[in-house]
Amino acid sequence: MERLKQKIKEEGTVLSNTVLKVDAFLNHQIDPVLMQEIGNTFAELFKGTGVTKIVTLESSGIAPAMMTGLQLGVPVVFARKRKSLTLVDQLLSANVYSYTKNETNEISVSNEYLIKKDKVLIIDDFLANGQAVLGIMNIVEQAGASLAGVGIVIEKGFQDGGEVLRTNGVRVESLAIIDSLQNRNVTFR
Ligand code: G4P
Ligand code: NA
Ligand code: NA
Repeated sequence: MERLKQKIKEEGTVLSNTVLKVDAFLNHQIDPVLMQEIGNTFAELFKGTGVTKIVTLESSGIAPAMMTGLQLGVPVVFARKRKSLTLVDQLLSANVYSYTKNETNEISVSNEYLIKKDKVLIIDDFLANGQAVLGIMNIVEQAGASLAGVGIVIEKGFQDGGEVLRTNGVRVESLAIIDSLQNRNVTFR
């Protein structure tokens, strides 16, 4: 997506050879117009695949997931990283290990909002090692639901998440794939 790549070039900051900061439009401040275009693009890519539900992970996945759900006309569920105060439902849970943070988080979704007949589109802001997506896929499987594919705003192509997922036959659509962040410079695929 050209507009997104332009935005990354103009407003992103390369923090290291592996980390890109995009707090200006995605991870802290959010650009609603850009999010809408992102949602429309995912909706166009996955239309006709029978998606009944978008599933993402709080918090930064919610904005692009919302705009996609709005355009496709389906509900958006975000997996929680913390257990809710109103915990009365049965939870489907998975452990997600973050290489970046060197910690494991349990993520969960109520079995009320993810059911066998659902066809799920997973949306997330970043794809690095793929652990978050694999965790959500595990939950989708526990629900007995099926997967239409995965939509990613920014894929770091030099980390192995994309390859792991595609090798396993998962349809992954990334709107911007970064091949390198060397020398404070963003190189797109
Ligand atoms: P993985 O799921 O692909 O294995 O990724 P990883 O554990 O490395 O990611 C941990 C967190 O860091 C995730 O956000 C992920 O979106 C984010 N992340 C990974 N690489 C980058 C990067 O280069 N730039 C930015 N800005 N974020 C990155 P999170 O902890 O779930 O936070 P939230 O923003 O969703 O609340
Ligand atoms: Na994030
Ligand atoms: Na994220």
